Amino acid sequence: MSKAKLAVFASGTGSNYDAIIEATQNGKLDAEVVLLVCDKPNAKVLDKARVNQTPLFVFDPKQYASKEMFEAKIVEVLQEKEIDWIILAGYMRLIGNTLLAPFEGKIINIHPSLLPAFPGLDAVGQAFTAGVKVSGVTIHYVDSGMDTGKIIAQDAVHIKEGMTQEDLQQAIQRVEHKLYPETIQQLILKGE
Ligand code: GAR
Repeated sequence: MSKAKLAVFASGTGSNYDAIIEATQNGKLDAEVVLLVCDKPNAKVLDKARVNQTPLFVFDPKQYASKEMFEAKIVEVLQEKEIDWIILAGYMRLIGNTLLAPFEGKIINIHPSLLPAFPGLDAVGQAFTAGVKVSGVTIHYVDSGMDTGKIIAQDAVHIKEGMTQEDLQQAIQRVEHKLYPETIQQLILKGE
């Protein structure tokens, strides 16, 4: 059977993109990252993608008249590459219906909290400020809401006495880098 084709969407540093690439290289994830979609022409993830020679679709939303227009262009590229799964990895935009409709059930997102707690921006900061003792990571299907789709996997991170927000951020990212490739692999095996 041919390998599942992934498109990773990212806007920032790309540590999850890196973890996914590494898992495809060391045999833990039976898939191929055939495209990186990025909405920030200066994002650090682009340097990583160039090193790995991942094909890129980089766009500046301001250059398009509307969200429908840039999402229609993305759909065109995804269909050209026969993408099986869209993996959101720090892509900081809501997915609109133009992109959601043709790929519904095939788009997943990672979020740095135990949803439904702390959706939206700066989830780690929100959890830290709230003083919770347990936070974590959620992987979920994407729907039209903000971090609201059906939950696929979660893992907890305990916030110990004396931990700084930076410590929490790092602990959460360590969990993400393991949980995301594992969860993608399980979805591929289930053939959902
Ligand atoms: C990750 O921690 C991810 O969970 C978060 O952005 C970070 C991207 O890091 N996503 C969200 O907050 C989505 N609501 P990375 O660029 O190093 O992978």
